[in-house]
Amino acid sequence: MAESKVLIVGGTGYIGRRIVKACLAQGHETYIVQRPELGLQIEKLQMLLSFKKQGAHLVQASFSDHQSLVDAVKQVDVVISAVSGVHFRSHSILLQLKLVEAIKEAGNVKRFLPSEFGLDPARMGHALEPGRVTFDDKMTVRKAIEEASIPYTYISANLFAGYFAGSLSQMGSFVPPRDKVHLFGDGNLKAVFMDEEDVATYTIKAIDDPRTLNKTLYLRPPENILSQGELIGIWEKLIGKELDKTYISAQDFLTTLKGMDYKLQVGIGHFYHIFYEGCLTDFEIGEKGEEASKLYPEVNYTRMDEYLRIYV
Ligand SMILES: NC(=O)c1ccc[n+]([C@@H]2O[C@H](COP(=O)([O-])OP(=O)(O)OC[C@H]3O[C@@H](n4cnc5c(N)ncnc54)[C@H](OP(=O)(O)O)[C@@H]3O)[C@@H](O)[C@H]2O)c1
Repeated sequence: MAESKVLIVGGTGYIGRRIVKACLAQGHETYIVQRPELGLQIEKLQMLLSFKKQGAHLVQASFSDHQSLVDAVKQVDVVISAVSGVHFRSHSILLQLKLVEAIKEAGNVKRFLPSEFGLDPARMGHALEPGRVTFDDKMTVRKAIEEASIPYTYISANLFAGYFAGSLSQMGSFVPPRDKVHLFGDGNLKAVFMDEEDVATYTIKAIDDPRTLNKTLYLRPPENILSQGELIGIWEKLIGKELDKTYISAQDFLTTLKGMDYKLQVGIGHFYHIFYEGCLTDFEIGEKGEEASKLYPEVNYTRMDEYLRIYV
């Protein structure tokens, strides 16, 4: 059994459930918050019970009950939050300020990983409205963590493949087109696509690694640094067919964005920074960061040809 005891908050969520799985697989004693607010959400309860069957401990705690959060974090060494942050689904990033308060009061936590798992918010000070709310909220949480002197690791996971690769980064779909495809600009700026299971694996690897203490861990495995055009090329090879391509100018993209409802504008606005600015790859990782595939070369990360094969 690995040494650190780990509490996962948001353990039934999209990335949270994978983090629970990775945590158990890497031999950590795993605790998961079970919120009373789950009420009649039978699927979530069943998922929690299946984690319990696999050896996890379920801990009753609520964001509306400070003492319950303190008691929960007192049981562990590491806290990982995977609470929601996708506006068209649910977003509760600022709720984590309550978790930070609890960790501060408990005083025993050796590492906190807040819910990040995307673009590095510290690099998004220039982001467009209204999408910048995601980065601003995550920075508010970072500020609280650092002011409370809580040891942390921030996971900059780049693009979840289920959202961005499966769709070939088309807006409003999660499945790859078979005839026509839209490209942002010339489709040549590099992004980074990550299998969500690998995001979870790298996250758990980092939790008690002194090299990631008070740093950002960027998930940037070299073979997954791909442009949208290259990703489309991989798909075309898999289905043995060339797609009709339409290139969207930045101006047209921004005009379309303005016509969308608020929740979509938040998420789709991030596409601008990713695909027209190249914000995921236009910088070197400095001394406040580490790159995951360099630290953990033993992880055989999923390449995008393998990831996309299931969609054929
Ligand atoms: N890089 C990417 O491409 C990408 C894509 C999507 C998301 N993300 C990031 O990943 C992180 C997690 O997002 P996700 O999509 O995995 O989240 P999610 O599945 O939408 O939700 C995760 C969990 O948040 C908790 N939650 C939601 N509403 C809550 C509320 N009102 N009160 C308390 N808890 C609440 C729930 O925990 P319970 O388990 O307790 O019910 C839920 O399971 C976010 O920071 C997001 O920005 C990144």
